[in-house]
Amino acid sequence: MKILVTGGAGFIGSAFVRLVMAETGWEVVNLDKLTYAGNLENLAEVESSGRYRFVQGDIADQAAVGALVAETKPDAIVHFAAESHVDRSIISPEPVIQTNLLGTFRLLEAARLNNVPRFVHVSTDEVYGSLPAPEEATEKFPLQPSSPYSASKAGSDMLALSYFVTFRMPVVVTRASNNYGPYQFPEKLIPLMIANALEDRPLPVYGDGMQIRDWLYVDDHCRGILAVLDKGRAGEIYNIGGNRSLPNLDVIHKLLALAGKPESLIQYVKDRPGHDRRYALSSEKILRETGWRPKVDFETGLARTIEWYRANAPWVARVRSGEYRNYYERNYANRV
Ligand code: NAD
Ligand code: TYD
Repeated sequence: MKILVTGGAGFIGSAFVRLVMAETGWEVVNLDKLTYAGNLENLAEVESSGRYRFVQGDIADQAAVGALVAETKPDAIVHFAAESHVDRSIISPEPVIQTNLLGTFRLLEAARLNNVPRFVHVSTDEVYGSLPAPEEATEKFPLQPSSPYSASKAGSDMLALSYFVTFRMPVVVTRASNNYGPYQFPEKLIPLMIANALEDRPLPVYGDGMQIRDWLYVDDHCRGILAVLDKGRAGEIYNIGGNRSLPNLDVIHKLLALAGKPESLIQYVKDRPGHDRRYALSSEKILRETGWRPKVDFETGLARTIEWYRANAPWVARVRSGEYRNYYERNYANRV
């Protein structure tokens, strides 16, 4: 089996590539543009394998994507590449639309023209929008995205599914909840709070901090994608949730306790525009059809993640230099 992974130098994509390389004999071709979020250091343990190949390129580049798919003839495409951060999509929506919508279209076209037998489109619970408790989104829920990021993911999901309906292309869509774990770029809640706490810097909490997210350890997510790649039915959507809904403040209290840092680091800042109050997912379908369920409980995963960031301070320092400084300044300077 040969798979083409897009966005394999990012947080979840690199965890997926490491897992596949460690646990299967498959060949992996990794197409990644290496934006601020792509980091080849995340793939150090696989780069010398004869079964692994890295190709730097943009999924929105029609000629490059077409040539790569035609040349590699993959048995499956697993599509992670995206501009993945809500706050950045608010500051600057253009690259989000370019990569998430146009890039997904280019990839779908290349897969269609080359008869790729399997296409997994990796998406998010954010497409369902904010839900009142105790509702949990099933795959049949309407799409009500709030941010340019989630709207672009909802659009790309629908485009991917249209390729099944119209062209009978064997597409499956996965929608996961909030991921956390090692190698996550410190712009999302958990890695940003860990990185700041470990350096005794303030932890910027948006609004009242009572927004609810469902937390999924990244390796659990990757195993869910593998389960869908193996057993998911073409044209279907599969939610992949962590079964652990928590208000942001609870996450931060747990994180501070595990890191041995004081609550006084918490700093309330101006809320995110259009901030979704609550995400919640039902993962009953993936359990029923593939047997997948999350294995890593939140406290264990969080402790493991904090230890990883503590042991990898140079990685954090490197990704925090350069472009990250400008982003941090733009996103947080006028919030306090
Ligand atoms: P990430 O931002 O860490 O990584 C994205 C990767 O895509 C980077 O390596 C980047 O270089 C690459 N990329 C970006 N634009 C590209 C382009 N035009 N061409 C080729 N490569 C490009 O993202 P992540 O958190 O690993 O998320 C991966 C996927 O999972 C995304 O599709 C995201 O929407 C989805 N998802 C993420 C979460 C989460 O909590 N992080 C939850 C559910 C779903
Ligand atoms: P984030 O990790 O950006 O993911 P999502 O895509 O779910 O918004 O944010 C998770 C939650 O944490 C969300 O409610 C926003 C909040 N948050 C903060 O309070 N402060 C921060 O600095 C960040 C990055 C997020």
